[in-house]
Amino acid sequence: MKERIKAIREMNPSNEIITAEGWVRTKRDGKNVCFLEINDGSCLKGLQAVIDKSTFTDNNLLDQITTGAAIKAMGKIVESQGGEQGVELSVTALELVGPCPQDYPLQKKRHTVEFLREKAHLRPRTNLFGAVTRVRNTMAYAIHSFFQENGFVYVNTPLITASDCEGAGEMFQVTTLDLENPPRTKDGKIDYTKDFFGKMAKLTVSGQLNGETYAMAMKNIYTFGPTFRAENSNTARHLAEFWMVEPEMAFCDLYGDMEVAESFLKYIFKAVLDKNAEDMAFFDNFVEKGVISTLEHVINSPFEHMTYTDAIKLLEKENSRFDFPVHWGSDIQSEHERYLTEVIAQRPVIVTDYPKEIKAFYMKMNEDGKTVRGMDVLAPRLGEIIGGSEREYRLDVLLERMKELGLKEEDYWWYLELRKFGSAPHAGFGLGFERAVQYVTGVANIRDVIPYPRYVKNADF
Ligand code: 4AD
Ligand code: MG
Repeated sequence: MKERIKAIREMNPSNEIITAEGWVRTKRDGKNVCFLEINDGSCLKGLQAVIDKSTFTDNNLLDQITTGAAIKAMGKIVESQGGEQGVELSVTALELVGPCPQDYPLQKKRHTVEFLREKAHLRPRTNLFGAVTRVRNTMAYAIHSFFQENGFVYVNTPLITASDCEGAGEMFQVTTLDLENPPRTKDGKIDYTKDFFGKMAKLTVSGQLNGETYAMAMKNIYTFGPTFRAENSNTARHLAEFWMVEPEMAFCDLYGDMEVAESFLKYIFKAVLDKNAEDMAFFDNFVEKGVISTLEHVINSPFEHMTYTDAIKLLEKENSRFDFPVHWGSDIQSEHERYLTEVIAQRPVIVTDYPKEIKAFYMKMNEDGKTVRGMDVLAPRLGEIIGGSEREYRLDVLLERMKELGLKEEDYWWYLELRKFGSAPHAGFGLGFERAVQYVTGVANIRDVIPYPRYVKNADF
């Protein structure tokens, strides 16, 4: 019988011989007994394998079984002598599957996250990255469950696109042209008609515009995939490649949008508390004290709501404490987000109705002509975790807004046709998946919640 270590640790003592496969995390070699901790990623704590040297005499083999080695251990499950763990494996036979020489970088001492980023191919073998990987997995699964249980259809939107959804110009170009010697038009510009797609193409910053088209047929849809931003932001919460979840709902306004966002976040947080108790205890002890009770508090209390205008009024009173003092019209930056969530509300805050100048072209205009039906969900410690809005579904208003911003109608012709053929109010949002994982685990840097982070000056591995 072959079982994962999580299941073995839950077995009762018996005379049956079982096999445990995995990597040696630690080895404690005494005169009479040798203890190995074997981990296979199925849970945080490994299986303790005990080798009685009076009966197991292949010392040569035992010497080669070092930290990091891949092994198989056969034996019986017995009551643990140490008392700390329930059961352990009393080894009768060992097999060295893949030896691990002494220059293995993950020796027993604790390593810094900076050091581990340089060893991104090995870091999933540490407690921290094993726990992050399992929690990330639970969250991805919960995201699908939430939407599937609520009748949303999963739609895959393209990664290569010709439209800039957010209008921020932070896109990576995709080309097969020879950069040393690109084809040129008569007036000396690069001739993109000769490029692979016959026009300039980019990596998408968001699946929203394509998602909207499907919402106008399927009513409720969601996307969940990679997005790319060539933002030159070297911060603990920005990546150049990150995963985004984007639901889009037809016949829905901003209130409906906020309701879904709140119950969605609570659902995925709860899934982690239910399924990853051991990992969460680890984060609470070693990464962010109180992270479990914070999540419980978030799940059990309603989010705070305020308009941008009210948020600015509150923040202006505290301008002396900020690096960037605010006034009506300014962007709400990370220090302000933290003040609103940590000091004022002490829970997540949804800020709505932002000045049109600081939001994207597609947000529905309010009657004041100055603000738009956008909403950001801000979380304590982290700041913005969700950005969303009710969309401008009125063709004339949308055209007017695009003109103001200098967006070309012909680039968005298909998006505009949605407003012509059976337009309906609709709304949606985007959750930054890595930011959500950061929030749940308390891991301070976004580079440590994705297997292979891509950011300014880094695309290693
Ligand atoms: O607020 P953003 O830019 O919104 C959109 O892209 C909309 N089209 C979403 C929609 O309405 N369908 O991005 C959404 C979220 C942010 O709140 C943040 O959590 C995350 O994506 N995000 C990033 N995460 C990591 N690295 C970056 N560079 C990010 N930029 C945005
Ligand atoms: Mg945003």
